[in-house]
Amino acid sequence: MKILVINGPNLNMLGIREPEIYGSLTLNDIQEKLLEFSKDFEDIELEFYQSNHEGDIVDKIQESYEKISGIIINPAAYTHTSIAIADAISAVNIPTVEVHLSDINEREEFRKQSYIAPKCIAQVKGLGYKSYFEGLSILHNYLKK
Ligand code: DQA
Repeated sequence: MKILVINGPNLNMLGIREPEIYGSLTLNDIQEKLLEFSKDFEDIELEFYQSNHEGDIVDKIQESYEKISGIIINPAAYTHTSIAIADAISAVNIPTVEVHLSDINEREEFRKQSYIAPKCIAQVKGLGYKSYFEGLSILHNYLKK
């Protein structure tokens, strides 16, 4: 099964960006760790995509229609603002898990709201890079049923 891993704005700055909140790994480090973790599931093929632009993320989700079995998305700041990304997930109807490095419920008020979560089968937060591992396990379990 093909799984698309989407990372939103400023996640290309991981490693430099607020390491006390997001950890010291770069996005590339996290992707490599996730690739390694995915080998436990023989039937998974990962594709990675990162963009700082809302419309590009919408395009990528639309292009996944009938090509991708599941999506893991860290929408970053778009979590709290983007009806367009939420609508794109609904439109393609691909099982999606929302992940966050930090615990968005334990930070500023504005981070508590997610427009994306209601469109997802699960939301994983606060486990650092292991949020992606948990997201992949949840998605795999869901898809193999
Ligand atoms: C984040 C949390 C968001 O609130 C923030 O805007 C991010 C990263 C996380 O992974 O913890 O860019 O999605």
